[in-house]
This record gives sequence, structure tokens and C-alpha cells, in this order.
Amino acid sequence: DELIPFHGPHQAGIATPVQERLQFAAFDLSTTSAAEVTKLLKLWTAAAVRMTTGQEVGRGATGGATVPPDDSGETLDLAASRLTLTIGFGPSFFTRLNLPAPMKELPPFPGDRLDPARSGGDICVQACADDPQVAVHAVRNLTRMATGTARIRWSQMGFARAATSSPHEKTPRNQMGFKDGTNNIAIYDESKLNRHVWVGDEGPEWMYGGSYMVTRRIRMHLELWDRTSLRHQEDTIGRHKRSGAPYGGSHEFDPVRIHNLPPRSHVRLAHPDSNDGRRIMRRGYSYSDGTDSRGRQDTGLFFIAYQRDPETGFIPLQRQLSAGDALNRYIQHVGSGVWACPGGVRQGSFWGEALF
Ligand code: HEM
Repeated sequence: DELIPFHGPHQAGIATPVQERLQFAAFDLSTTSAAEVTKLLKLWTAAAVRMTTGQEVGRGATGGATVPPDDSGETLDLAASRLTLTIGFGPSFFTRLNLPAPMKELPPFPGDRLDPARSGGDICVQACADDPQVAVHAVRNLTRMATGTARIRWSQMGFARAATSSPHEKTPRNQMGFKDGTNNIAIYDESKLNRHVWVGDEGPEWMYGGSYMVTRRIRMHLELWDRTSLRHQEDTIGRHKRSGAPYGGSHEFDPVRIHNLPPRSHVRLAHPDSNDGRRIMRRGYSYSDGTDSRGRQDTGLFFIAYQRDPETGFIPLQRQLSAGDALNRYIQHVGSGVWACPGGVRQGSFWGEALF
């Protein structure tokens, strides 16, 4: 069984191999007491250390016949399946605890239709694993431990990672049928990670080695997309559907030369050459939550991106996309979050310790 170490200079779940499944949860605090929050973060860290090494939480799933078991038990026969747990704090976390916030809320973007019930939150946990049962179990057990201090505001399940860890891995396809995650920051590319993903000494000390996470639930209008010709689909992305090659190239990893791509295509507008060299690290997943009351598929991309600073990462990029991307006809942003993910946890320490 492969384990991804929980401890280290950076939190696991950012520049570590991308697992197959996601369970994401946003929590609201029901307290303004830093002491209570610290207590929860200590409890959560201890549980995270156990779960990411395939152990049961607390006294386990069968720790005493007369009490509710500490661990809910559904992973008893399962391996850790590369579980990672990554924590982030939203702007409202800092307001609630009267601490200086390291970042602002995201600005509104044209075309957004954000549902408050699927946006924001004080704390988020990104659980990734190759087995969905392991990821769901992790969030469920953190949730029950939080009773009285924090409760779930919204959660999101994901599959088919829209990111790869290395170019040797096969790139998964998103729900539009296109390879998603081709041109991304690779987890071993230290220099790009240091430049675009990890917070340096410009931020508060507790963010050193951390990163800012942006999450967006992006719904796809698949009924419309599926009635769109292949040529138009490819023009919209700026890459070929089967091979994943950029316009002007013939293989997936051929370099993108933006002038070969249609002016309003997604890849052209998102590429660093159209953004003063700016890059983000994408780590999103597909979601499919059944159908809505009109029988339309409630499907899309749960976009996750990590960056050193949202003001120079996601925000200008999304401004450019929301203004001109041909893809906008087929998608709508319906949920949003921005999260300060502190630096890594050292042995014996706990999530966010340096903050208090
Ligand atoms: C690239 C799809 C939303 C940023 C791509 C690619 C596809 C794609 C198919 C090409 C393959 C690749 O390099 O990964 C989508 C879909 C979206 C979406 C279906 C919404 C449902 C976004 C958003 C952002 C973004 C919201 C950022 C604000 C990027 C970037 C690239 C990219 C930076 C790489 C461009 C390059 O350097 O070549 N996307 N994307 N995407 N996308 Fe998106």
C-alpha cells in the first residue's frame, strides 16, 4: 500500500501525486474562541496522521462496546490508498477569530451565478484518495469530531482528476471529452513550484511554504455542448479532441504556440504567454451530481487551483477568461472559495499551529 507522508515542509495534497478521487468539505465554525479552534485542529491533525497511514481514528472502530465507536469503520478492510488531507482557512475564518487575514475574498466575475450554499466557509478540507470510500470516510470522521465547534457548510465529491502529476501519466478527460491537465505545473518542477505555487517570505510566517487554494464549482451545459459540432468544440478549446494536441501541433505535449489557436479559445486565453507568464497549479476533479428538476445533468468541473497569490494567479486569469473565453457559452461558475493553506505540518505540531 502506498502512503503519501502527511508531515513535511509543505502540506500533502498540493504537489504530491494526484489521486483518483476527491471528497471536499467546507466547514463553518460555531465558536469565536481560538482555544476551541486550536483544540479541534489538534484533534483533526491526530486523526489525519492516523487515517493517512491507514489506521483507525482514536480508539478505533471497536474500541468499547458501551460507547459509540471513535472510528465509523467503513475503511476497516481498506488500505490508505494514498489518502491526503489538506486544510485551508477562508477569509471568514480570520474575521470570526479576529485575526489578520492574509487574503481578500475573490471579486465577482461577469457570468458568475454563485450559490451561497455552495460557496465560502471558514475552514476547508480537501481529501484525496484512490478509493472514494477512503476519502469520504476521512471527511465524515473529521466532521463528527468537530461536533460543537464546526459543522459542514457544503461538500463536494469528485472523480476523474483534471490534473496529472507527471507527463508520463495518461491525462484523464473531462466531461466535455477533452484531456484536461496537459499543460500544468509538474509536482517535481521545484523552480516553477517555488515561483508560482509556494508562498515565500512575502506572506505571514505561518504561510511560508503554504499556498492559496481557489475552488470553483463550474457547471457544464452538456446538453448544448453535445449538440455542438466537433470542429466548434475543438475551436472552443484550441486543442484536438482525440489526441489532445494543440492547434498547429500533432501530439498532446507539443508546445502551445498561442498564435495558432483561435483568438477566443480557452487554452489560448489561459496560456502563460497570454498572461504575462502567470501560472497556476490545477488539481480539480469532475463532478456529476445527478440531474436537476428539469432533467438536465448537474455535471461539471470542481476546479481547484493552487497559487502563491490569488491576486496574481487566479484573479487576473479568471478576469481574462470571463471576459472573452469561447467556453463561457457552455459553462457557469456556481460555487466559489478561496483558502489560505498554511505550510507543512512537522512531527508533533498541528494544522495551523503557527497562526495562534
Ligand atoms: C487548460 C478545460 C476552467 C485555466 C485547459 C484544457 C482544457 C481545459 C481541456 C487543455 C488541456 C490542459 O492543458 O490542461 C477547462 C474546462 C473548464 C476550465 C472544461 C471549466 C469547466 C478553467 C478555469 C481556469 C482554467 C476556471 C482558470 C481560471 C486553465 C489553464 C490551462 C487550461 C491555465 C493551461 C493552458 C496552457 O498553459 O496551455 N482547460 N478549463 N481553466 N485551463 Fe482550463
